[in-house]
Amino acid sequence: MAAKILVTAALPYANGPLHLGHLAGAYIPADVYVRYQRLKGSDILFICGSDEHGVPITIRADRENVSPKEIVDRYHDRMKESFRRIGLAFDNYSRTSLPLHHKIAQDFFLNLYNKGYIKEQSIQQYYCPTCRRFLPDRYIEGECPHCHRQGARGDQCEACGRWLEPEQLLSPQCKECGSTPEMRTTTHWYFRLSEFQQRLEDWQTSKTDWKSNVREFCSGWFKEGLTDRPITRDIDWGIPVPLPNADGKVLYVWFDAPIGYISSSVEWAQKQGAPDRWRDYWMNPETKLIHFIGKDNIVFHAIVWPATLMAHGDFILPSQIPANEFLNIEGDKISTSRNWAVWVDDYLEVFPPDPLRYWLESNAPESKDADFTWKDFQTSNNSELADVLGNLINRSLSFIEKNFEAKVPPSGTLRDPDRAILAEIGNATRRIGAAIEDFQVRAAVGALMDLARSGNKYFNDEAPWSSFKVDRARCATTLNTTVQLLAALAVLMEPFLPFSAEKLWRMLNAPGSHHDQRWNDVPELRLPDGHPLGKREILFSKIEDAIIEEQIAKLKK
Ligand code: MF3
Ligand code: ZN
Repeated sequence: MAAKILVTAALPYANGPLHLGHLAGAYIPADVYVRYQRLKGSDILFICGSDEHGVPITIRADRENVSPKEIVDRYHDRMKESFRRIGLAFDNYSRTSLPLHHKIAQDFFLNLYNKGYIKEQSIQQYYCPTCRRFLPDRYIEGECPHCHRQGARGDQCEACGRWLEPEQLLSPQCKECGSTPEMRTTTHWYFRLSEFQQRLEDWQTSKTDWKSNVREFCSGWFKEGLTDRPITRDIDWGIPVPLPNADGKVLYVWFDAPIGYISSSVEWAQKQGAPDRWRDYWMNPETKLIHFIGKDNIVFHAIVWPATLMAHGDFILPSQIPANEFLNIEGDKISTSRNWAVWVDDYLEVFPPDPLRYWLESNAPESKDADFTWKDFQTSNNSELADVLGNLINRSLSFIEKNFEAKVPPSGTLRDPDRAILAEIGNATRRIGAAIEDFQVRAAVGALMDLARSGNKYFNDEAPWSSFKVDRARCATTLNTTVQLLAALAVLMEPFLPFSAEKLWRMLNAPGSHHDQRWNDVPELRLPDGHPLGKREILFSKIEDAIIEEQIAKLKK
């Protein structure tokens, strides 16, 4: 049996609509990988869901003056729907407010507690005398001690990117009411992360295939030395700490959220009517566990979460953590509070999903931040999708409609150029596959487009419009060869452009579904002579300047 693969994409906070920054970092790269592995015939499970706890939710609720529950209910449904419309092929999209998850997270906590990996500790923490409560990190703002800019949060300064502790902030203020908070004593539970440093380092030494951003980030943490971390908070939204003397305390969101990967898998198994099936993945040392994340999540996925898994002991550890950098929009950092973002739902009101997927794939922020501009999006759609891929499909299929009664012309006798382009399919299939397995989406989609470019060059060089007049058999061979290339493309496009792949497969009237094809068999894929083609449609339309100007104006409004 094929090895099992368990893919997760970071559980997004259900505190706002889905935007391009979400897609670029974790979700599109994960989706490309999963769709590819399914075509390879791998036994793969793709898990995600909403992260519904923590201050990102309560801050949003405070801002809108509604309950946290109202926020998560609204955005869970909306995000799930946006993901569906942009083509994210999750096997399960769960949510961490489910009782199932609360139970699993509490059991997880107790397991660690009973093994002595969690200790109780009294600490000094900021308390707002006006709001009469302890302030979580993100409820405190002040001046950053490093770059001295205002508005740094108690956990991080967004301006210089440094991680902070609330007490490092200069002139701290309560984010809610502006009062100056005071230090008071409170009790929290700490995970003994420091005890895992050696094991984590040894484990990561073996991970030579991890991306350098992840490895460098971790070695920085190791060098500073890991310290025990509080995994409880004084807020009233979250999973209650399952201990008798813990009234009003909840689990820290970064403790419960990754456990959400497990509970989403459990929920998936229950929906399958095979409630134990999740164990085949999570408790199977042969499973490759892959966490797709954005770079701001590295420490949690590469250090804290593996340590909690080690402490628990029943589950496998991650084997890969592909972390991407960030996406900016028109040269500026995405900011939902400043409304500087492109929202997926807004995009989908105007454009089909695949052109956006294509832009995000060919500009994936793999080794550095990427910058989305509407102009660049227009160019990528018009001069690559439409002029290269779309053009090859359209010109060859319309030629066959016109001159060969919309049936695959006879293959006849192949000559060198025909054999060369068919061999190109094999090369591209391997190149694309290798790049995806190496988490290089840009290179992978580039190789796909190169294949379409070779197809156009072949078509130009063979000039079937000329051979049609003088050597009809030769012309037929050219078109037959081109159709075989299109059939291959329909499958090879699936990880990147799933909606268009499906349409192309139908346009070719190819049997069954392109989902049933096997990646490794693509080079051998042949539609027989005389095979009737389906109805042709335009796969990629050009985008006019005026439409792009509208989008730019909307963003800047
Ligand atoms: N909600 C977090 C974020 O958006 C990601 C959580 S990933 C998980 O940054 F592992 F905790 F689930
Ligand atoms: Zn206050």
